[in-house]
Amino acid sequence: MSSEPDLLATDIEAYLAAHERKSLLRFLTCGSVDDGKSTLIGRLLYDSKMIFEDQLAALEADSRRMGTQGGALDLALLVDGLAAEREQGITIDVAYRFFATDKRKFIVADTPGHEQYTRNMVTGASTADAAVILIDARKGVLTQTRRHAYLVHLLGIRHVVLAVNKMDLVAWSQTEFDRIVADFRAFADQIGLGEVTAIPLSALTGENVTQPGTAAPWYAGLPLLPLLERLPVGDDLRDQPFRLPVQWVNRPNLDFRGYSGLIVSGQVRPGDRLRVLPSGRDSTVARIVTRDGDLALAVAGQSVTLTLADEIDISRGDVLAQAAAPPEVADQFEATLVWMDEEAMMPGRPYLLKLATRTVGASITEPKYRINVNTLERLAARRLDLNEIGVCNLALDAPIAFDPYAENHDLGGFILIDRMTSRTVGAGMLHFALRRSQNVHWQALDVDKSARGALKGQRGRVVWLTGLSGSGKSTIANLVEKKLHANGRHTYLLDGDNIRHGLNRDLGFTDEDRVENIRRVAEVARLMADAGLIVLVAFISPFRAERQLARDLMAPGDFVEVFIDTPLAVAEARDVKGLYKKARAGTLKNFTGIDSPYEAPLTPEIRIDTPQTPPAQAAEHITAWLEGALDYSI
Ligand code: ADX
Repeated sequence: MSSEPDLLATDIEAYLAAHERKSLLRFLTCGSVDDGKSTLIGRLLYDSKMIFEDQLAALEADSRRMGTQGGALDLALLVDGLAAEREQGITIDVAYRFFATDKRKFIVADTPGHEQYTRNMVTGASTADAAVILIDARKGVLTQTRRHAYLVHLLGIRHVVLAVNKMDLVAWSQTEFDRIVADFRAFADQIGLGEVTAIPLSALTGENVTQPGTAAPWYAGLPLLPLLERLPVGDDLRDQPFRLPVQWVNRPNLDFRGYSGLIVSGQVRPGDRLRVLPSGRDSTVARIVTRDGDLALAVAGQSVTLTLADEIDISRGDVLAQAAAPPEVADQFEATLVWMDEEAMMPGRPYLLKLATRTVGASITEPKYRINVNTLERLAARRLDLNEIGVCNLALDAPIAFDPYAENHDLGGFILIDRMTSRTVGAGMLHFALRRSQNVHWQALDVDKSARGALKGQRGRVVWLTGLSGSGKSTIANLVEKKLHANGRHTYLLDGDNIRHGLNRDLGFTDEDRVENIRRVAEVARLMADAGLIVLVAFISPFRAERQLARDLMAPGDFVEVFIDTPLAVAEARDVKGLYKKARAGTLKNFTGIDSPYEAPLTPEIRIDTPQTPPAQAAEHITAWLEGALDYSI
């Protein structure tokens, strides 16, 4: 039989056909800076002949010029060279490289070993079947190795290979190798990592990478590449219960309605009983439609369109599942969260959660603990910073269908997205639904917001004043309330300083406390507006995200943002409470405008330019705006 590179040269059709049928293994390499990861990947690419002629020529020239290997080929330059190339373009954190052997295709995710390792590993690992953890035989198991092992375990990567590299530099000592493997095994047992295959190798000489070497006759196992060729992939996904998260509803005309998406687990046949989640309605598969005609069977990994026997309301984000083994539905969970953004995770802040094809509003209700991945210690945490890992409770705005991550990565793994910037800020793994979410239901009330407002001849609204300390919020809010009251309006004023004496007296001025401060006040304001009141809120409320949260609690038009726009210099010059002075002197920490940020509103309903507008005039303007622009009838 001709080998692949020969086929590639002589019969491209046969090559492509052979290629098509091969299985694909996705794996991740993790190592520290100097333990030879680039050389190892370079060696795999080189030995599998996946280097183009021009790359090879450049590699030879670079190797001669750099002289790192005494004029011989330096395979690390191949990978590092590609890295340098990609850094010139947009920066991506994980490089995916493709190569193939006669037996299998591979995609290797190369995650740089610098301090952003957590984010990069999570990105690279989300679809990995296997992880190759590199160890420098001279150094043994390092802190870094433990971190990698912990993450690999956390992400549920099934196959773990320990590549003990640079064995040539320890004279292929079996004692050294055994000691390293025993060290690693001890840690692996501590974190509950299952089977690990350890291989002594040298990426530099190539021994035990693609070919067995003669240097370690005591090693009876397979070299790395043959091992990677034999690891089982994807098969057991087919044996799990059927799950298809709906990507889109395919409705070209009135006679056809299909639900399209990727089958993430299990298999499906016409006639199978399915359940639609979260609604819980059942139906039967009528057809499995693909571009190449109908199928009698479709399995995990295939993208298909299903039609059902019954007309059910199904939309994007719903999950079609085996009726006899459906996923759970819940809106509160415990989860492990890996934080991936410079801006820390804040409990109570509104984020978007994306799980499979579903996106819903979400917030962290309770951070439970942070994990020190080096020592596995659980530490108290009120927030999570970049690259930190913690366990917390989450609450969603709507129920979703899910499986625990341990059972199904696609229906249990999620990302969190910042609502303001659309950045992915975190990745997580669902553990289980909180029972309390199953037992707390909305109580339908007959007397509603408009009925309560009608009795008062007004519509409940929230008028939200934001601005620096000393900007004049309280003064202006007080005047507005007096005017509205005089007009016969039913009002209430929630003022930062006052609420902090009661409801929020447990909160300080760290970012996370301010987030919680505003979250509570937004909820209270909503309840009061629901009671039919015109609620004036005067809080610094420095963050856009939480002001948006307050807005989102209200119906459109029922939230009026008023920006009391006072330059810092003016507020500081007034310094009615003497707090700016203390902040400048360093005796008061986290003071807004000094060492704590203020994010000005971008599109407030009303902006008051205070140096130009005295309080009485500002109050006049706001009241007129409210009475005029808003229809107080229901
Ligand atoms: S917010 O940022 O969480 O919205 P809030 O409006 O409740 O703040 O409280 C602000 C008031 O607390 C200020 O008017 C000031 O009197 C007082 N205060 C005390 N310490 C600080 C601080 N570090 N930063 C801002 N305000 C402070």
